[in-house]
Amino acid sequence: MTPIVKAFFDTTTNTVSYVVQDPKGRACAIIDCVLDYDQNIGRTDTSSADEIIAYVRANGLNVEWLLESHVHADHLSAAPYLQEILGGKIGIGKEITVVQDTFGKIFNEGTKFQRDGSQFDALFDSGDSFHIGQMRGDVMHTPGHTPACMTYVIGDAAFVGDTLFMPDFGTARCDFPGGSSSSLYHSIQKILALPDETRIFVGHDYKAPGRDEFAWETTVKEQKALNIHVGKGRSIDEFTSMRDARDATLPAPRLILPSLQVNMRAGHMPEPDEQGNVFLKVPVNKL
Ligand SMILES: [Fe+2]
Repeated sequence: MTPIVKAFFDTTTNTVSYVVQDPKGRACAIIDCVLDYDQNIGRTDTSSADEIIAYVRANGLNVEWLLESHVHADHLSAAPYLQEILGGKIGIGKEITVVQDTFGKIFNEGTKFQRDGSQFDALFDSGDSFHIGQMRGDVMHTPGHTPACMTYVIGDAAFVGDTLFMPDFGTARCDFPGGSSSSLYHSIQKILALPDETRIFVGHDYKAPGRDEFAWETTVKEQKALNIHVGKGRSIDEFTSMRDARDATLPAPRLILPSLQVNMRAGHMPEPDEQGNVFLKVPVNKL
């Protein structure tokens, strides 16, 4: 089965969102959607999500799923906004509870913030499957970048989130709380064990040095041959020492604080105060 895949690239956060359609009908899933956010003035904007809505409507699609590959630290999820307008169930990996526990403490969220994943409509375990129309999707737990990272394998396409990036860019960072370069290595081996012709759709692209265009689609075969971090059968020791050394030099993502607070709530803002005002926190010297 070859799903119809439409990509939407957000140049502000370098995020790729996908609409994945059953080729035999109108059912689709939306993966890793973006809510635009201007941190300087604390204002959200739905321009990116509205582009997806326009595409879904123009093609008469029925949204069955709003899938998150993980709790993103670099953009806010637009899943609740899209759900209100287009329908669909919001799904994420069941280890979201670990992420909620970690960041519930860091942001001192108190007992009102449930850490059981109940903000989401579906919590996937590794090996679970789901359907988009007649098309089956399989869920693979691929932790390392975060504990709750999932890869969604839908027909001949694998949506790998932040595990592998394009072969010339390599792999995702592993230095967030709960991240682990050795876990990421093992997760990537699971992805590379998929059939060679499997199409791989990555969660971000930053243009590798020497490449002028953004890109987000590759294959298992290309990753095995060319990935600069894990290709050509790179060993776990070689990978983890490279990854850990590189991560130590990376700055924190610009939107990490708002993203985590919103995305651990399935894309919902924190509870408003008595006047209906919503606030996001800045924990000082905590991250
Ligand atoms: Fe990420």
